[in-house]
This record gives sequence, C-alpha cells and structure tokens, in this order.
Amino acid sequence: MMNIKKKLRKDVLERRILLSESEWKSKSESIENALLQLDVVNQVNNIASFVDFRNEVSTNAINRWILTKGKSLYLPLIDMSKRSMTFYKIEDLNELVRSNYGIMEPNPLVHEAVAPNSIDLFITPGVAFDPHGYRLGYGGGFYDQLFVEIKSEIPKIALAFDLQCVDELPIESFDRRITHLVTETGVKTF
Ligand SMILES: Nc1ncnc2c1ncn2[C@@H]1O[C@H](COP(=O)(O)OP(=O)(O)OP(=O)(O)O)[C@@H](O)[C@H]1O
Ligand SMILES: [Mg+2]
Repeated sequence: MMNIKKKLRKDVLERRILLSESEWKSKSESIENALLQLDVVNQVNNIASFVDFRNEVSTNAINRWILTKGKSLYLPLIDMSKRSMTFYKIEDLNELVRSNYGIMEPNPLVHEAVAPNSIDLFITPGVAFDPHGYRLGYGGGFYDQLFVEIKSEIPKIALAFDLQCVDELPIESFDRRITHLVTETGVKTF
C-alpha cells in the first residue's frame, strides 16, 4: 500500500513540476476564480485554507479574498513531533512565518488556535485525486485524520491541476471523500 502511494506521489509530482511558470499562473487563476464563484464558499464565514507550497495551485487570491470579504481565515500549522495539524485564525497574511521546510505558517505566539469543529469549510491541498473524490496527500495523514474528526457534511474542497487526476487510488478505511474538486477545467462534486 505505502509503495503504491509513494510511486503515485512521485509520478504526479514529477508531472506537476513540468508546468511552466505561466501555465502554473493561468491555471491557478482559473481554479481560484472557479472556487470563489461557488455558493458553498460564499455562504459560509469560517474558512480553512492553506498557503501553496512549491508549484501547488496558488491560493494567494483566495486567502486575500476571504479577508477582504470580512470572513474568517484559518491556516494550518503542522507539528511533526506531535504528528498533528492545528488551524489558527489569520487576520494579516504578512504575519505568517516561514517554516524550516519553506512553508508559510501561523505563529502560535501570535495567532489563536481553533478547534476544527468551529470551521464551516475546508479548502485542501493534495497530490492526486480519483474520479470518486478520494485524495492522496503528501503522506503525513494530517488531512485524513482531520476529515475523520469533523462532521461528515462539512464541505471539503480540494484544488488541483487536471494532471493530478488519476483513474484509481488505493483506498483505506480512514479515507473520507472530498465534496468538491476544482481544477482548471471545472468543478466536480461528489
Ligand atoms: N485518522 C487517523 N488517525 C491516525 N492516523 C491516521 C489516520 N488516518 C491516516 N493515518 C495514518 O497516516 C499515515 C499517512 O496516511 P496517507 O499515506 O494516506 O497520508 P496522505 O493522505 O498522503 O496525507 P494527508 O492526509 O496529510 O494529505 C498512515 O500511516 C495512516 O495510517
Ligand atoms: Mg491519505
């Protein structure tokens, strides 16, 4: 199971790294705009998002939109030693700090942690997605753990380029399907 996942992550990430800067930018723009049109996003106030890393779909416009609209933005901090992910309320994106891995993260000294059950909607990253809404992440199991914790009806919207969609993924008992997948060619709901 782990070897299949490892190989899939490697294959998809090798495809994604081939996107040119301009392709990354224009596809990201399409995805961000499509997400911001969704009723499910506009209807809620407490939104968990993420900050894109390397050549993930850009989330900068989304995160700025959430703040501009007066909604509450929550971003994740991963604690590798505790093997846990916590969301913090962010009011100013300039207050994020760069982690050792180069990811922009909340600062627990400045930001307030919130319980996942106070969040209305999760915008999630991921490496690969299948036609049924199952996702493969980077291997930490952090989002898998989160999704089993929250109410099943909470919207979970993943952002990805079409090249991250695969025919089949290995599914485990703890996997929960996302509710929406937004790519540069449209929105799929599950
Ligand atoms: N609910 C859970 N509680 C504890 N451990 C879990 C849970 N869900 C998954 N895990 C563990 O997390 C590890 C990584 O899982 P997996 O390879 O599916 O991660 P992933 O989907 O790539 O990562 P992520 O969820 O962070 O995007 C596995 O060893 C798995 O057993
Ligand atoms: Mg998983």
